[in-house]
Amino acid sequence: MYTQALDVPDIAAQQAAPHAHGASPAEANFLARIARDEKIEPQDEMPEDYRKSLIRQISQHAHSEVVGMLPEGNWITRAPSLKRKEILLAKVQDEGGHGLYLYSAAETLGASRDDLVDALHSGKAKYSSIFNYPTDSWADIGTIGWLVDGAAIMNQVPLCRCSYGPYARAMIRVCKEESFHQRQGFDIVRALCEGTAAQKQMAQESVNRWWWPTLMMFGPHDSDSEHTGQASAWGIKRISNDDLRQRFVDVTVPQAAFLGLTLPDALLKWNADRGHYDFGPIDWNEFWRVVKGDGPCNAERLNDRVQAFDDGGWVREAAAAHADKRARRAVSAASVRIAA
Ligand code: 3HC
Repeated sequence: MYTQALDVPDIAAQQAAPHAHGASPAEANFLARIARDEKIEPQDEMPEDYRKSLIRQISQHAHSEVVGMLPEGNWITRAPSLKRKEILLAKVQDEGGHGLYLYSAAETLGASRDDLVDALHSGKAKYSSIFNYPTDSWADIGTIGWLVDGAAIMNQVPLCRCSYGPYARAMIRVCKEESFHQRQGFDIVRALCEGTAAQKQMAQESVNRWWWPTLMMFGPHDSDSEHTGQASAWGIKRISNDDLRQRFVDVTVPQAAFLGLTLPDALLKWNADRGHYDFGPIDWNEFWRVVKGDGPCNAERLNDRVQAFDDGGWVREAAAAHADKRARRAVSAASVRIAA
């Protein structure tokens, strides 16, 4: 639904050709490759800051995927039908898979998975603000799919063209799966909107709570975005936070109208001169409070994440013991062959 909607200008394409002046030959070569839109691969030379910036973004993204399993996992046992339960289970498992691809992509840059996971568990690492809000009703599962996954796709489709090969390739599969997630969410909300008055009210109440936090997902205004400039020059970020947010509002308003839902913003209005919807101010105090750990569910999410990791310790030990056994068998089989 969103993949063809990204006709806003690519900010990397707007950057002046990189100046090799004053750069070392290796750096000049790197910048020339970025300018030619070539993919940078793990074995290639890259500036240390590029590597660190990618580890920062990719690991935060991985953390968001695994923490994102929690609000929805909360509803697996309470899904209203077997079919909805199966779909939700598959979706939550997909999010776990996305986390794994992304941790692997970060490892190709030399990051240690243990260090990344420790940073999440100790509260040092960031993950998306959106997952610190509660899922109070079944409608929230629909709204998360429709709005939150919709926003995630809007942000992640341009990342399929990111300059770092392993991240870009992981994003292609992630976006395909996110597209299914978005559609299943829309389907839940549609079913509620076509149901009884109480069901429609449940959907409306959910959208009222999730609309503004979803707009915050895109990050601070471009003028306050610390990383956008450099990330764009390196071809990591293709479209700015504000442009993606605007694009999301523009595609979502007609969807809400189709569903018969009202988006909770009195200032939301089509602006014919701009060719976009105008929308009201975002509460950035709330955003930064949540990012800094003081949202409605930050403590609960981290506790649950650490608990899930500890509970899974025996699985990791069993997998390591099995791999060890296979490796030892392979060595003894090879020595038997040599002896023969
Ligand atoms: N939640 C938490 N922190 C946020 C944030 C948010 N919604 N938006 C921005 N921030 C943080 C940044 O990480 C950065 O912190 P840092 O300096 O400590 O790393 C700081 O605020 C300044 O923001 P910038 O705009 O300068 O940061 P970026 O240029 O990195 O842009 C981003 C932020 C748009 C989130 C970008 O990092 C990005 O595109 N990341 C990859 C996608 C991603 O992580 N999405 C998260 C949701 S994943 C998801 O929703 C899963 C799905 O299954 C639903």
